[in-house]
Order: sequence, then structure tokens, then C-alpha cells
Amino acid sequence: MSKVTSSTLIKFKQEGKKFTALTAYDASFAGAFDSEGVDVLLVGDSLGMVLQGHNDTLPVTIADIAYHTACVKRGISRSLLIADMPFMSYSTPEQTMENAALLMQAGANMVKVEGGHWLLESVKMLTERGIPVCAHLGLTPQSVHVFGGFKVQGRDAENAQRILDEAKALQAAGAQLLVVECIPPQLAKAITEALSIPVIGIGAGADTDGQILVMHDVLGISSGYIPRFSKNYLKQTGEIRSAIRAYIDEVSAGTFPAEEHTFN
Ligand code: KIV
Repeated sequence: MSKVTSSTLIKFKQEGKKFTALTAYDASFAGAFDSEGVDVLLVGDSLGMVLQGHNDTLPVTIADIAYHTACVKRGISRSLLIADMPFMSYSTPEQTMENAALLMQAGANMVKVEGGHWLLESVKMLTERGIPVCAHLGLTPQSVHVFGGFKVQGRDAENAQRILDEAKALQAAGAQLLVVECIPPQLAKAITEALSIPVIGIGAGADTDGQILVMHDVLGISSGYIPRFSKNYLKQTGEIRSAIRAYIDEVSAGTFPAEEHTFN
């Protein structure tokens, strides 16, 4: 199977083919996800919570992400590999470029940044210099202390409009992919229809172009609890590769996420 690129994802969007994404942090799991057909792998800063045991993603460093990106890269051949820019590693355009370069050199195909209007200059600079960008709006976990907790975003008309405007501005600045997290499904649908770039949802309903989940939630091994928007596929299948195939099948068929996984 040929390597997934941003052009592949645009083609999927145009054809109405839903695609799957999953976090991965090491070569073995990443290799299994890649060979089962997960289209996009993200070395997420969620590793701060699921690997390192922190309460949020803020302690994660650029060295942590570069290390895990290099591990994942060695295990895969087909999936598009995105690496998260961690907290405070992209607070100025110059710092953003230096750190994004480290992640690309570690093996990423694209970097992901959380935020809206304040990021436009950085997104433009990165794109113009050959670094593809995935933007991330809605519940952006690096801003958990600004939000006052992990809370659904865009519930009122004013915030929903701001998120939609930011999505359009990020696309215009050059972003090639957008993740929307924990927003009402109606807003996710409006964003997906308004953009020509693919939109990946998590806790954002079934109407985005793709879905992403944290691998530990899919395999039911997250410490504490499984978020409402996620699903433990290992419980229903009993085997890791079957769990991943079930996730891919349900996303392709549009049956995941179901009503119980969304924030209406
Ligand atoms: O860090 C992460 O795993 C993420 C996904 C949940 C989108 O950003």
C-alpha cells in the first residue's frame, strides 16, 4: 500500500471516504497500527498523561516528542506521521521553526500546533519553509488552565463563530490538516463543510472527515477512566489487531462515533 500523504487525505475528503488516526508512541504498536491500515499516526503530547503519568500534557518536552517520533518512524511504512509540538515549544515563530525542524528530522511528516489566530504567522512561516502543519482547535489541552479544566468548547454562538473563523484563517495561512477536539457535532460539521483541508475529530461527532483517538483509550488501558467520546475496542474484540480493525471499520462505516460519544 502506498504511503499516506496530505494529498491522500484530501482525496479521501473529496471522495467522502472517512479515514482513521490514532496516537502511537513506540515502534511496535505503531507497526501494528500501520499494517492494519490506520491512515494517520500522531505522536501526541498525550504521552505526558498515558506514558509519563502526569495529570496534563504541560510537562512534555520537545526532546520527549522527538524521541518517540523517532521510535514510531522506525516501525511504520504507510501511515502519515504527525508529531505534536509540546507546550511552550512554539511561543514565537523563531522558536517554532527550530523545534519543528527537530521533529521533522526525527521522522515526522507534519507537526501539530494548538491554537487559533495567534498562530497564523507561525503556520505561514513553517509551511513556506517546507514543514506541513496540522492545526488543533476546540479543547486544546495545553490551555487546560486557561479553560479551567478539560471542558467542551464552542457551545455558545460567539465561541462557535470564533472557532469557525479561526479554522478558516488557519487554512488560509497554510495549515494542511485540522484536528477539532470536544466541540458540538453541529460546529464540527460546519467547519468540515467550510474547509477544503481534511478535518479530524475527537469528541466532535461523526461528520468530520476523519477520527482520532488515544491508543490507550482504544485498548482500555488508560489509568483512571475512559473519556466519554472514546471507545474501548479491546473489550469487544479481545485482541489488539482486531480492536484496531474494528475501530477502522466503524469509522469507515460512520458508526463511530455514535450519539453516546458526542457532546450535543
Ligand atoms: O496529544 C494527543 O494525543 C492529541 C490528540 C488527542 C488529538 O492531541
